[in-house]
Amino acid sequence: MQNMTLERRAQLRRLGARPIAHRLDLLASWYGTDKGSNGHGYTRHYDRHFRARRRDRLTILEIGVGGHETNSGGASLRTWRSFFPNASVIGVDIHEKHLPAERRITILQGDQSDPHFLAELARSHGPFDLVIDDGSHRGDHILTTFAALWPRLEPKGIYVIEDLETAYDEGYGGGPAGRPGTAMALLKELLDDVQHESSTHAAAVHVYPNIAFIEKAAM
Ligand SMILES: C[S@@+](CC[C@H](N)C(=O)[O-])C[C@H]1O[C@@H](n2cnc3c(N)ncnc32)[C@H](O)[C@@H]1O
Repeated sequence: MQNMTLERRAQLRRLGARPIAHRLDLLASWYGTDKGSNGHGYTRHYDRHFRARRRDRLTILEIGVGGHETNSGGASLRTWRSFFPNASVIGVDIHEKHLPAERRITILQGDQSDPHFLAELARSHGPFDLVIDDGSHRGDHILTTFAALWPRLEPKGIYVIEDLETAYDEGYGGGPAGRPGTAMALLKELLDDVQHESSTHAAAVHVYPNIAFIEKAAM
């Protein structure tokens, strides 16, 4: 927010929103991601699960940079960067992104359905504390990404999958409830892992409308 124009500063003052760094929903609308109450309404869930770790030195990975042009997007990456003042934020997108360099934000080009890309991402930039899958929203891609990145999530890390409604949408490889190979099928399997001791070390699964938070055990 260093380069904020005077007009935007005045706008913020009118909102009575200074400082807003700890107000996730305001940050989301300020930077223009649709995660907030003016869009998907995810910020209230993010706030509940992320707030306790706000000041930690975290590595955050988000799949899906957004923006329709090569020089647009990054709204959620800026939101995380501001909300977590000590975190490094990595964004991955299948499309090339030419955004101005910003402190504590790294943007990489890659395909979340490509296990080789994901393995290299995990090796070179992991381990991660928070992973957010807001990419293609296809079930097969979500499962491939989870298989590659969950093992590189730190103990007590949190893995988030957005837009779960696509699990019921044939256009995204989904279908009627119970369809295998979807994000919902994965979450249901993880419920078993939470209850039985298992190699995944899933400690909790929190499912809200269209978004889920999977917590890794402290180990
Ligand atoms: C919903 S947008 C992300 C929005 C952004 N996270 C935000 O909240 O501001 C989804 C992004 O995922 C990217 N995407 C689609 N398929 C992908 C894939 N296979 N691998 C990586 N990124 C992908 C799209 O190019 C698009 O930029």
